[in-house]
Amino acid sequence: MTNKIELLEKIEDRKAVCAVIGLGYVGLPLAVGLANAGFNVRGVDVDPEKARMVCNGESYIPDVSDDELQKAVKNGRLTAGSDYSVLSECDTVSICVPTPLRKTRDPDISFIVEALQEIKKYIHPGMLIVLESTSYPGTTEEIVVSALTGSKLRVGSDIFVAFSPERVDPGNPVYHTGNIPKVVGGVTPACTDVASALYGNVVEKVHAVSSTRVAEMIKLLENTFRSVNIGLVNEIALMCNQMGINVWEVIEGAATKPFGFMPFFPGPGLGGHCIPIDPFYLSWKARSVGFEARFIELAGQVNSYMPLHVVGKAMDALNAAGKSVSGSRVLILGVAYKKNIDDTRESPALDIIMKLNLKGADIVYADPYVDDLAVEGIDSHIERVELNKETLTSADLVVIIADHDAFDYQLVLKHAPLILDTRNAMRGAGGDRVWSI
Ligand SMILES: NC(=O)c1ccc[n+]([C@@H]2O[C@H](COP(=O)([O-])OP(=O)(O)OC[C@H]3O[C@@H](n4cnc5c(N)ncnc54)[C@H](O)[C@@H]3O)[C@@H](O)[C@H]2O)c1
Repeated sequence: MTNKIELLEKIEDRKAVCAVIGLGYVGLPLAVGLANAGFNVRGVDVDPEKARMVCNGESYIPDVSDDELQKAVKNGRLTAGSDYSVLSECDTVSICVPTPLRKTRDPDISFIVEALQEIKKYIHPGMLIVLESTSYPGTTEEIVVSALTGSKLRVGSDIFVAFSPERVDPGNPVYHTGNIPKVVGGVTPACTDVASALYGNVVEKVHAVSSTRVAEMIKLLENTFRSVNIGLVNEIALMCNQMGINVWEVIEGAATKPFGFMPFFPGPGLGGHCIPIDPFYLSWKARSVGFEARFIELAGQVNSYMPLHVVGKAMDALNAAGKSVSGSRVLILGVAYKKNIDDTRESPALDIIMKLNLKGADIVYADPYVDDLAVEGIDSHIERVELNKETLTSADLVVIIADHDAFDYQLVLKHAPLILDTRNAMRGAGGDRVWSI
């Protein structure tokens, strides 16, 4: 057990050198958190531009301020690069690379596999490797352990392997990496102990579980819970639309019940790198053991229909104003997948823009967080405009997709000739000029 004791001592004395692989929305806040906790951190990202920006103290993640990053870089605690050879001097490795879905909705774990191929070259006794990327139950044991044990090092005594899902909610003003409890599950109890000790220095609370599979399943339950509940409320919204009932008022009323009800809100569709993707990691794995995850598939069907519903509503609104989509100027407000962030991955705005473009609409967008927007299937980038009187009055229809707080909704209400509000940003104001989903 000397490797375990030595590593625990290094962690306690802040002598452990920590590597973070993948410096994105998850990895960069973690790297800064480890540096703030007193560790020397080596960030590794295949994107040399990100590594360069980190070294210059320029943050590209809104949840990490330039000041915070500069502090970590200037005091020498955080360095970054694209070369994995720094791992030879590292004691811990946290893997935070993407885990997208393939077009066929199968998990794409190729980024994890590529990272492991590099880590394997520099693995040495006394090293802790933690997978933070979301993946299906079994990934840590089946993919990480099997890739690393080819190196003949024994897990639990020579090296330590754990899964610890990241639960960060970008743009959340209350909860961040440091105050969200961290679930940790090791391949062996020794692995759990070492990983818990590391994260115990970075976050307020560590919740240790009995295995990597439990930890992997916890993350997928959390995100499936959101996807299914959003799917339910989207279905209620579609139902209310048919019945002429205001769904927002219904939810507001139901939320007055102090127990047994938790409000979820309908919208133009799911987005981001988690909720639209993670449940399908679970259903894919469930299928492999002969289990059909019906809730997940149903929620996926309802949620993925929402962009089409929004396009239908846009057509209805324009039609009622005596216009057709073809040739109409449509101003999209907010193209990020949710309010107050810059992330457009899987954003429903992309799907809605693509569908409106196919129908001949002339589309522009306003978003203070997104300065460039490319949409699959459209050759040129979508023109970005400022939100002002001129851009509002020159639009035939304004569609609110991400209800950023920075938007002046009174200005929108005053000057837009027609509004389709998918987020209840107008709170029922505007009468016949404002359409809801
Ligand atoms: N974004 C979120 O809100 C969030 C929240 C919780 C969990 N997660 C999970 O965390 C993981 C990372 O997500 P993210 O949003 O940070 O992704 P991201 O795309 O923002 O960052 C991933 C980074 O990894 C780098 N990368 C890719 N392959 C690499 C490799 N082989 N070696 C080194 N670097 C590599 C990329 O260049 C990128 O900078 C995913 O599994 C995601 O599901 C994300």
